[in-house]
Amino acid sequence: MNEFKARRQQLIQAMGNGIAIVTTAPEVIRNRDSHYPYRFDSYFYYLTGFKEPEAMLVLIAGVDPKSILFCRDKDMEREIWDGFRYGADAAKALFAFDEAYSFKQLDEMMPNLLSNQEKLFFSLGADASWDARITGWLNQVKAQARSGVSAPNDIADVRKFVDEMRLYKSPVEVDLMRRSANIAAAAHNRAMQKVRAGKMEYEIEAEFLHEFYRKGAQSPAYTSIVAGGANACTLHYNANNCELKDGDLLLIDAGCELDGYASDITRTFPVNGKFSAAQKDVYELVLAAQAAAIAQVNPSNHWNAPHDAALDVLAQGFIDLKLCQGSKDAVLESGAYRQFYMHRTGHWLGLDVHDAGEYKDKHGDWRMLQAGMTLTVEPGCYIRPADNVPQHLWNIGIRIEDDALVTESGCEIITSDAPKTVADIEAAMQK
Ligand code: GLY
Ligand code: MN
Ligand code: MN
Repeated sequence: MNEFKARRQQLIQAMGNGIAIVTTAPEVIRNRDSHYPYRFDSYFYYLTGFKEPEAMLVLIAGVDPKSILFCRDKDMEREIWDGFRYGADAAKALFAFDEAYSFKQLDEMMPNLLSNQEKLFFSLGADASWDARITGWLNQVKAQARSGVSAPNDIADVRKFVDEMRLYKSPVEVDLMRRSANIAAAAHNRAMQKVRAGKMEYEIEAEFLHEFYRKGAQSPAYTSIVAGGANACTLHYNANNCELKDGDLLLIDAGCELDGYASDITRTFPVNGKFSAAQKDVYELVLAAQAAAIAQVNPSNHWNAPHDAALDVLAQGFIDLKLCQGSKDAVLESGAYRQFYMHRTGHWLGLDVHDAGEYKDKHGDWRMLQAGMTLTVEPGCYIRPADNVPQHLWNIGIRIEDDALVTESGCEIITSDAPKTVADIEAAMQK
């Protein structure tokens, strides 16, 4: 709780003066009276540690700084049906807020809290119903102009400050990300042992869910991609309903969420346990591209250096495999490589799988990597049938994705428990 409190204090400092409003995510109905599993808003959670729906954080900066939580009331009737709620008094004490009130008091209290504040920090445009509700409060404040009450005349996005904070992971966050990564790596190991020709993709997806939940993860971090054979060439394939075939590869992109923190791992391996010569050629190329990218993940490089390094290796490899023609520079210059590699080599990772944080600095240059940042490194190669493609490579789709923590001297791969070399994968599949 100290860490959440310290984050609120840091944000209050960054604001200077004014008032910030951070709302959590709404519950979403799946059908009739059944809801999707609830997931709090990452910004709200980052600043509060509070996981209940129907909650809002107000921060007031300036001479009398304070943090105020609005949350659901204790309600024995609802708690009998839906489970425990903290209520304002317990939430204030346990989560270290200066004040806490019922969510039902928002409309009564917010116009007062907004009065005579110069600046409002809020993520306008993120949720239309909150935009409308806050506009209503602001209009009530403006209506008091003749009594000398002023409304904020400046609205800035509160997320800008928090994005920057979220980019640098604290030791507590790193510990959670390691644990999330370990669970996901164990699940990839399990999948390698369970795969057999004739099984369905969803049977392997089930092995992931089994491993995630039994190890305490609350959810997959995103919909698992379990893509046999040609399905691997569809980047966001998630039907996961085809039979696994002898001689095909299986690409699995799956990670879990542990106490809010995502892991994101992709492994590609042969359904029958042994890479064919053609599969191995492409696999070794992607693995070399990933190694080149990982070697660039250190604080003397900018965000794009790993992507450039991966592209360099892939472009030469595509020429060697007769997928592309001409010189490496020409392939890079023309973008011909995009027929086989059409995504970027990574993204920030944290509370969101594609985590918060700018990729460029305020001058428009790629930002430098710094210790404490966490990102994925995930080159791939996806070869769809085409006239210009050697037939023995058709339908091979490979991605290799790991999660990296930038350190003072380089980086640490926190997902390395998932087998990755040809020899390690073939050995893991024998077990
Ligand atoms: N699993 C999402 C991604 O790799 O970006
Ligand atoms: Mn990823
Ligand atoms: Mn992924």
